[in-house]
Amino acid sequence: MNIDIISVVPDLLISPFSHSILKRASEKGLLHVNVINLRDYTNYSRAQVDDYPFGGGAGMVIMIEPLVNAIENLQQTKRYDEVIFLTPDGETFNQKTANALSLKNNLLLICGHYKGIDQRFRDHFVTKEISIGDYVLSGGELAAAVLTDAIGRLIPGVLNDETSALSDSFQDNLLAPPVYTRPEVFRDWKVPEVLMSGNHKLIEEWRIQESLKRTEERRPDMIQD
Ligand code: 6GU
Repeated sequence: MNIDIISVVPDLLISPFSHSILKRASEKGLLHVNVINLRDYTNYSRAQVDDYPFGGGAGMVIMIEPLVNAIENLQQTKRYDEVIFLTPDGETFNQKTANALSLKNNLLLICGHYKGIDQRFRDHFVTKEISIGDYVLSGGELAAAVLTDAIGRLIPGVLNDETSALSDSFQDNLLAPPVYTRPEVFRDWKVPEVLMSGNHKLIEEWRIQESLKRTEERRPDMIQD
């Protein structure tokens, strides 16, 4: 999979993909993340990419021209399955959307900043608008990193058996059960006995029960769905 990300603060996106699972995904050639600096595509002086909003009001708006220059340059060599604008007024991101997007080949993520981007770019180029939750970030970069992580780890071959996505919270509409590791006793806190029993059927039943209990307590809305 190839994920291109257009940003006015590309430095924010250097580190998130250089570690752990996403680093391995890129080393294996399963995920390519390509960060594009929007300022490389402006014809205005001093690399200007934003301007005051028509009609007045606070904040700056990213201009349509650098965005169109950037996307049309990228589209010369690839066809995007989705052009995604990260914005707090988009549809809320969830595991179902992550699963669906992990099956695509080419994604373009557009990070806004300031007050947003010129609506005409959204109308004519964007195919999907995504928010990562009901709070406001200062830009789309951290949201783009969240999407890329959630999607990238689902690409076949990225995770091995030990890190399998099948047992994740949300993957079966349940939260994941508690987990324990050595030592078996710390202070006087013991690991649940069933986990030490070696009885795989009992352990599996216990995990399902714990998942249900946790989901009922913390996310009753998920059970109703
Ligand atoms: Cl995608 N962008 C911004 N700026 N804020 C957000 C968001 C996105 N999702 C939640 N808050």
